[in-house]
Amino acid sequence: MSDTIKYLLSEEQMPKDWYNLAADLPVPLPAVLHPGTMQPVGPDDLAPLFPMSLILQEVSTERRIEIPEPVRQIFRQWRPAPLYRARRLEQALGTPAKIYYKYEGVSPAGSHKPNTAIPQAFFNREAGIRKLTTETGAGQWGTSLSFAGALFGIEVQVFQVRVSFNQKPYRRAVMETYGATCVASPSELTQSGRAILAQRPDHPGSLGIAISEAVELAAQRDDTKYALGSVLNHVLLHQTIIGEEAILQLEMAGDDPDVVVGCTGGGSNFAGIAFPFIGMQLRGGPNAKKRRIVAVEPAACPSLTRGKYAYDFGDTAHLTPLTKMHTLGSTFTPPGFHAGGLRYHGMAPMVSHVKELGLIEAVAYHQTECFAAGVTFARAEGIVPAPEANHAVKGAIEEALRCKREGKAETILFNLCGHGHFDMAAYNDYFAGKLSDQQYDESELAMALAGLPSVPAGL
Ligand SMILES: Cc1ncc(COP(=O)(O)O)c(C=O)c1O
Repeated sequence: MSDTIKYLLSEEQMPKDWYNLAADLPVPLPAVLHPGTMQPVGPDDLAPLFPMSLILQEVSTERRIEIPEPVRQIFRQWRPAPLYRARRLEQALGTPAKIYYKYEGVSPAGSHKPNTAIPQAFFNREAGIRKLTTETGAGQWGTSLSFAGALFGIEVQVFQVRVSFNQKPYRRAVMETYGATCVASPSELTQSGRAILAQRPDHPGSLGIAISEAVELAAQRDDTKYALGSVLNHVLLHQTIIGEEAILQLEMAGDDPDVVVGCTGGGSNFAGIAFPFIGMQLRGGPNAKKRRIVAVEPAACPSLTRGKYAYDFGDTAHLTPLTKMHTLGSTFTPPGFHAGGLRYHGMAPMVSHVKELGLIEAVAYHQTECFAAGVTFARAEGIVPAPEANHAVKGAIEEALRCKREGKAETILFNLCGHGHFDMAAYNDYFAGKLSDQQYDESELAMALAGLPSVPAGL
């Protein structure tokens, strides 16, 4: 067993429930506010956008929430996902560290996103919903919801951030293969899109704008709801199946991570791998060892490391409630770097909260150093990571090199949240020396932060 590469669980060993970190938090999450009244929103305020079952998950403080059997049945198509020991990467780096990665690229859509797309489509169909609208950056989330829509007979309308829509044309083809419709955002289909195009016809788009368009359409019709691929508590909850499986697999390997690493756009794959470990620490007991938990974000869109912890809108047109999170300002347009899934102005409130509580660390890297890490990884392990996942790879490699310098045989676990098969134009640009490390516009950031909504003192 000493040279095992893959740690595999049987379908029967797949976790039967999701883990809810809200149950173990030492300080509860700040309330979500209605932007008009500045009062906490109730379930009814969210009902135009989400089915009640998901709203109840959003506010739940139950530690364990059962994964419905029809959802588990679909998950069996690719779950449990493998845990790999990166022995060849360890050798290539010459590190005494042990590196493990959980590989979420085995899903039909190629990333972790179906872990929440499938349950969201399931709960919407249970509520009689016929159409879902959504945003997507790189297209991983749009693909995943389109796949889920095909399985549950739900029509899916995707707004894809224009710069990614142009960079990754085959993603749209996959979404259409699953029967969904995908348009570039900002689009002419919505009032929010038209208002932005009127100001700047070549606007590259942002996740904040695409969210506004999707929310606007969903709020207009009773048979239509909105699905979000990250940020919200119930999305993070659904992703915890990643960490729950990893805990079982590391037990098989007889190991326990000293460091857990994930990339953060809105925070969902990071939460998925990290929250079950944070929960073990918070609950105390024999598994309560203090592990370092590291979030890796792009230096060109650094919400956790450079953003303000404040109440802000989740979208650019200000159609969403206010949540307390690390934010660069809802009107901030990040530069068009290739990790499109990480171009979001805010961070999940729950991830922001654990950062404020000192339970996690955050670092930011530029895109070329992340691509270099991805190439090192691919040449050792064979898998070509998604540009977003390259940030986690970079974080893990940095930890492994630190172990080498310090002569420490620590155990590192990271989440390889998706493959990069639809992102090869980005790799082409990288090899051609055309990728630059984009800087965000400091004056635009200052303006976006100056425009944060004012909330009553003490919140
Ligand atoms: C492969 C991949 N990783 C990461 C992300 C970022 O999202 P999150 O931080 O919610 O995992 C995305 C988002 O689209 C993605 O496609």
